[in-house]
Amino acid sequence: MRQAGRLIPEYRKIREKHEVLEICKDPDLCANVTAMPVETLGVDAAIMFADIMLPVQAMGVKLKIEEEIGPVISEPITDKRSAGALQKLDPTSDVPFVLDAIGIAKKRLDRKASLIGFSGAPFTIASYLIEGRPTRDFTKVKALMYRDPEAWQLLMETLSDSMATYLQAQVEAGVDAVQLFDSWVGCLSPQDYRKYVLPYSRRIFKKLENSGIPRIHFGTGTSNFLEEMKLAGGDVLGIDWRIPIDVAWKRLGDDVAVQGNLDPAAVLAGIGLLKEFAADILGRVQGRTGHIFNLGHGMLPEASAESVAELVKFVHESTRTDTK
Ligand code: CP3
Repeated sequence: MRQAGRLIPEYRKIREKHEVLEICKDPDLCANVTAMPVETLGVDAAIMFADIMLPVQAMGVKLKIEEEIGPVISEPITDKRSAGALQKLDPTSDVPFVLDAIGIAKKRLDRKASLIGFSGAPFTIASYLIEGRPTRDFTKVKALMYRDPEAWQLLMETLSDSMATYLQAQVEAGVDAVQLFDSWVGCLSPQDYRKYVLPYSRRIFKKLENSGIPRIHFGTGTSNFLEEMKLAGGDVLGIDWRIPIDVAWKRLGDDVAVQGNLDPAAVLAGIGLLKEFAADILGRVQGRTGHIFNLGHGMLPEASAESVAELVKFVHESTRTDTK
């Protein structure tokens, strides 16, 4: 998650000349940046260099990704009329560059690392579209959700159909796994999650049921409703650091895999303590099949590439059963 952007000096050089969305729209450059974390940090998977708001721009939303802030929308959605103005995504004509970049990145990774495709989940995208920019309290999105159920339904339907089609197109272009990012859904109560979000996220996973690849469902602040999130149908649940991984997995049950759950701030600790944090997670997991070691959320800008490379090496050494 936002791994390349934050720490690789070579990426930072590219960013001096190009905006995030500009990189996304240049398939060669995008594939190059996508492969960087595998090549310099040694991670086992690359995530497509894109942004959750990239397809939304193609759906007619005027947006910018502002430095240190994130996505900013000039005309936020306020009612049914503005929700209805959002066009459905047609991936082949609207975001062909993403699909082209997947082909190039796959060749470049040469089966040495998996390639993860992704999209934002309807709730998290809707929160940007309604709030207009990153927020702490999500009051506008909740107000619309409670007061204008028709506008909410229309918006969530358009987003879930479009994201399902988008992910399906990425599967056809060759990604090895897909991830649905519901980064901000933890602001909801379990009851509201069930009522206002679950039906739409479930729809996306349902449409990808026969994709034949793992479907990862990511959220933060979701310890209160992991069981509800499981109902959406992902094969892997991403969990943040606010809950011990073994406790979360026990609650989720044996029939799902888990991804996580190192606190991103642990990477800022000295290498000794960082390894202790990682060893704690591995100790709780006890080598169970179906664990993807990862941070509980995105890489912090303050993290150093050296620490991350050390961490990757440590996890590999602690978990490899072969002698390679
Ligand atoms: O290699 C990678 O970094 C993966 C590509 C990627 C980006 N965005 C590019 C990006 C991915 C997977 C995302 C997903 C994304 N974008 C999410 C979901 C995952 C998560 O972290 O919760 C969200 C919520 C966004 C929205 C977004 N985009 C924010 C909040 C920000 C800015 C603030 C920040 O944290 O830096 C962005 C900007 C953005 N998207 C950057 C990158 C690499 C920033 C770094 C840069 O300026 O180069």
